[in-house]
Amino acid sequence: MRRPLVAGNWKMHGSRESVAQLVQGLLSEQVGEGNVDCAVFPVAIHLSSVLAQVAGSKLSVGAQVCAAQSGQGAFTGEVAAEQLQDLGCKAVLVGHSERRQLFAETDALVAGKFAAALRAGLTPVLCVGESLAEREAQQTEAIVLQQLRAVIELCGAEALRQAVVAYEPVWAIGTGLTATPEQAQAVHKVIRDEIAVHGSEIAAQVRIVYGGSVKAANAAELFAMPDIDGGLVGGASLDAKEFAAICRAAE
Ligand code: G3P
Repeated sequence: MRRPLVAGNWKMHGSRESVAQLVQGLLSEQVGEGNVDCAVFPVAIHLSSVLAQVAGSKLSVGAQVCAAQSGQGAFTGEVAAEQLQDLGCKAVLVGHSERRQLFAETDALVAGKFAAALRAGLTPVLCVGESLAEREAQQTEAIVLQQLRAVIELCGAEALRQAVVAYEPVWAIGTGLTATPEQAQAVHKVIRDEIAVHGSEIAAQVRIVYGGSVKAANAAELFAMPDIDGGLVGGASLDAKEFAAICRAAE
């Protein structure tokens, strides 16, 4: 059985004070103590303080982005996966649609970042998903598989054992428009079936989480689907009680 995972992507939100309050709220709600893995992904500059604050709890911490280059070097503004690992991070998001759309991250670059995360011992959380236009043009499957295959081609399907896949339809992100459980399940199954081509055991093991307007009110029905192993939550993860309720829905 796959252990569920609920992750909060805080995106570019929070001040030192509001982040500390949010973490305090999560700790009081005992987020991560139940039968579900819980993680938060703060802005890079808040990683150290959040890591210090959650020390000793079951809540884990990841970064929203890392460089494709490993080690250290002349890459102004970038943060290496090794540096995130050294800080205490356990995971890193790669290929979030906002990175793909707003910061021109291509499938090849995303695959490079995925590989860099693996080399550093981090869990890459590979985000895939189609835009509304692509869905309307019946290209959902093709887009999602193209994004997944770019990683499999560079890193091999075995690498997915160390990873998480997040299906995030772009049209459902921050819009309040959630994919129905059936719509999400259908794409999760496409992803798992594709992984199964390379190995049924890998496919059975890899966690595929859903992201796109997940909230306490819709989490349980999404997480009840057979191929949905939890959620990647944006807006609703900025409220400790709401995020805690979503985590409980995954147990
Ligand atoms: O990575 C999570 C995200 O993109 C979903 O955001 O605000 O729709 O939950 P939101």
